[in-house]
Amino acid sequence: MQAIILAGGYGTRLAPLTYTRAKPMLPLLNKPMIRYLIDALPPSTEIIVAANYKKEQLEDYFQENGINAIVNPEPKPLGTAGAVKNAARYINGTFLVLNGDIISSLNIRKFIQYHMEKKAKVTISLWPVKNVEQFGVVDIDRNGRIKKFIEKPRRQEAPSNLINAGVYCLDYSILDYIPDGKFTSMEAEIFPKVIEDGLPFYGYSFNGYWIDVGRMSSYIEANKLLLKKKGLKFVTGENCSIEGRIKESSVGSNCKIGENAEIKGSILYDNIEVEEEAIIENSVVGSNVIVKKGAMIKDTIVGDDEVVDGKIEGKKIWSKEMPKGYPKKQIGNVIKSN
Ligand code: GTP
Repeated sequence: MQAIILAGGYGTRLAPLTYTRAKPMLPLLNKPMIRYLIDALPPSTEIIVAANYKKEQLEDYFQENGINAIVNPEPKPLGTAGAVKNAARYINGTFLVLNGDIISSLNIRKFIQYHMEKKAKVTISLWPVKNVEQFGVVDIDRNGRIKKFIEKPRRQEAPSNLINAGVYCLDYSILDYIPDGKFTSMEAEIFPKVIEDGLPFYGYSFNGYWIDVGRMSSYIEANKLLLKKKGLKFVTGENCSIEGRIKESSVGSNCKIGENAEIKGSILYDNIEVEEEAIIENSVVGSNVIVKKGAMIKDTIVGDDEVVDGKIEGKKIWSKEMPKGYPKKQIGNVIKSN
């Protein structure tokens, strides 16, 4: 079976980290987040990565790590359905589509089995949420058949608390629903049409964990969750010198954490120097950054190659020009919650 991983978004909500990186390459416990999806696929799956922005980073990573995946570029971002259609030549039967920024406990083998048993044309993974008002939920019957999607319902009017969890199993014929070369959204345009046509469209809900790593808060939450699952308080990469304290955080390679410095609930990339007595809390720090002595950084994203000093809270630090071609605002949001 083939699996298309959608990995071509700009990840604007994670800027400035994504000014210099493809979002699927952002690390969780020092491993690119796309790696967690790849490892969750059944071993014989043929992987197609629908990429666009900074696709060379994905190609290099796959090559260096012996991962057999086709990187399929788009001439321009085609949206979540357009990207699938653009990869149609690699598909020869029922196939999977996965958003490249989901960390979850979904058992993909069982998910595929469910799709087959139901003789579905489309099956989507579903995750229960508390705050239905912020999401699109499904109206689903007792047999798991989805009747419609309802965007951001009022709590008392919500037919369920189940949202699209970003992994789909699709029949080959669904490709016919997607136009060629046109920006098209799977969620907003294709799925409603398939339901309207009366095709068997099912939902598969699962328990455990699910995080859409789209925002800084969910990115940090995913990192903490993976640490907890491994029973670790923190991880560090190669060649680090640690004198300060680290809690619920990951620290990349070649980092120096000075005396009495504190790193709490944060993600630090490579080549970072945190000078003595500096505090970094609930933040993400890009590569080649110096955090000056006694600085306090909280709820902040620091881009690559910055020097930070003083007290900084709730900021995005980027002192250079915005990279050319990077969108000024979010292009489309697949799983709605902000
Ligand atoms: P934001 O700009 O912060 O919304 O992030 P994003 O661009 O990644 O969008 P979003 O989180 O909604 O996308 C969900 C998944 O679909 C991510 O894995 C994206 O990489 C992927 N994706 C979104 N748009 C496209 C596209 O046009 N082409 C491809 N190939 N993938 C896409």
